Amino acid sequence: MANVTFSSPSLPHDETVSTAARDPGTLLALAKSHKIPIPFDCQDGECASCLVEIEVLDFSTQSFALTDKEKEILKQLGKKTKTDIKIAEARNIAPHFRLACQYVIHDEDIVVKFVGDETLPVRKRK
Ligand code: FES
Repeated sequence: MANVTFSSPSLPHDETVSTAARDPGTLLALAKSHKIPIPFDCQDGECASCLVEIEVLDFSTQSFALTDKEKEILKQLGKKTKTDIKIAEARNIAPHFRLACQYVIHDEDIVVKFVGDETLPVRKRK
């Protein structure tokens, strides 16, 4: 089971979602299915609009693998250099920034931080 906590100024409070490990999907798909307003556009790892910051709560289960598209976007955004990525992969250090549309959730506990669309009102709690 994965426990994913979403944290953003666009949410009235942090929201934690649990999901079965046997049914992994992308972080963006999970967010969309729970109406968590992570911004997105291409959904194919090319626009960077779904950039999120990941805090790993359980280091025994973290996901390390960046997709090639994530590596390229993170380099373009200045979030990681090619050397940073090589060192992180060699040392099994989880990347701090990810693209929600490329991040496949595994059996892990993480906090996902994102800014969201600042032009929208904060979502009211149900
Ligand atoms: S939605 Fe475009 S990179 Fe994720």
